[in-house]
Amino acid sequence: GKSGYDHFMLKEIHEQPRALRQCLRGRVDELGGQVELEELAGVRPSSVQFVACGTSYHAALYGAELFREAGIPAQAFLASEYVTSPPPIGDALVVGVTQSGETADTLSALREARQRGARTLALTNVVGSTVARECDHTLYIRAGPEIGVAASKTFASQLAALNLFAFAATDDHDREAIGALRDLPSTVQEVIDDSTAESVAEAYHDADAYFFIGRGLNYPVALEGALKLKEITYRHAEGFAAGELKHGPLALVTDNSPVIAITTGDGELARKTVNNVKEVEARDAPVIAVTDGQSDIERYADHVLTIPETQPRTAAVLANVQLQLLAYHTADQLGRSIDKPRNLAKSVTVE
Ligand code: M6R
Repeated sequence: GKSGYDHFMLKEIHEQPRALRQCLRGRVDELGGQVELEELAGVRPSSVQFVACGTSYHAALYGAELFREAGIPAQAFLASEYVTSPPPIGDALVVGVTQSGETADTLSALREARQRGARTLALTNVVGSTVARECDHTLYIRAGPEIGVAASKTFASQLAALNLFAFAATDDHDREAIGALRDLPSTVQEVIDDSTAESVAEAYHDADAYFFIGRGLNYPVALEGALKLKEITYRHAEGFAAGELKHGPLALVTDNSPVIAITTGDGELARKTVNNVKEVEARDAPVIAVTDGQSDIERYADHVLTIPETQPRTAAVLANVQLQLLAYHTADQLGRSIDKPRNLAKSVTVE
């Protein structure tokens, strides 16, 4: 049952600390200096191609960025497009990211890759799923069953598992980053406990459209924030790379289209995103900042959703929790069918 929650989605958002603990258990050592994945022993790809759909594609974009940061060429592809025009594979490891393990588009992309001689890895939640049976390697995300059609805890667990995969496969022993990953269950709990997303949702549930912007690791978070909001509220929502706003989308921005800007850290990326926020502020758009308080974005924001200061990789997971809650409470105030949005299915087994 829903254990007292109004919807499975809210229950599953609240289950994230536990899901993450399960994902990390036995895989990160106590001191946070070492990641060990028996199932990936010896897997050291010289390049990586991720294939996935929907929310899992956003996780794949994030995963590809982790590998590129380690100097390993990596790209994320929409599975349906990968099948339509397969890229040269070379000696890439092809990684299918799929919660259900049954998504037809993703299975086809992996079959295409295998036919061309690639080794494949499945990143999935479901033990014994088709993807797990067909791939050379499997890394389980261990999120536990997810009932809500909207992916929530499985996305967080995918991001955590992608961190594990990247640390292990690139021999990265960065103590601070691994420590932040180990602490993720408790920092996610903090975000859930302190979130003011419900009151922000109250202020904006009648907006015409919602635009999400972010850079780097926060770009997939922006895309995911928009997907979640549109699928459960039926309102127009789009995610953009923050730098793209001025190349077209800015024409859509009005005083009734909140811009949700995700920015963490105090570096160059944050500084540039704050500049983009100034551009929308000049068009009178309400600004909702998701921030760790390290930049001066609060000065230009109408509302702030705060996350604790952490490493960039874990910050993305925390920021996403705020966006899940924003989408959930907006949909709840609109009285939507949150666990079963119209026209959508949990597992999409046709191409
Ligand atoms: O089971 P998969 O992860 O392969 O599913 C892929 C998409 O259908 C899925 O992520 C979908 O976008 C989400 N349920 C949206 O919340």
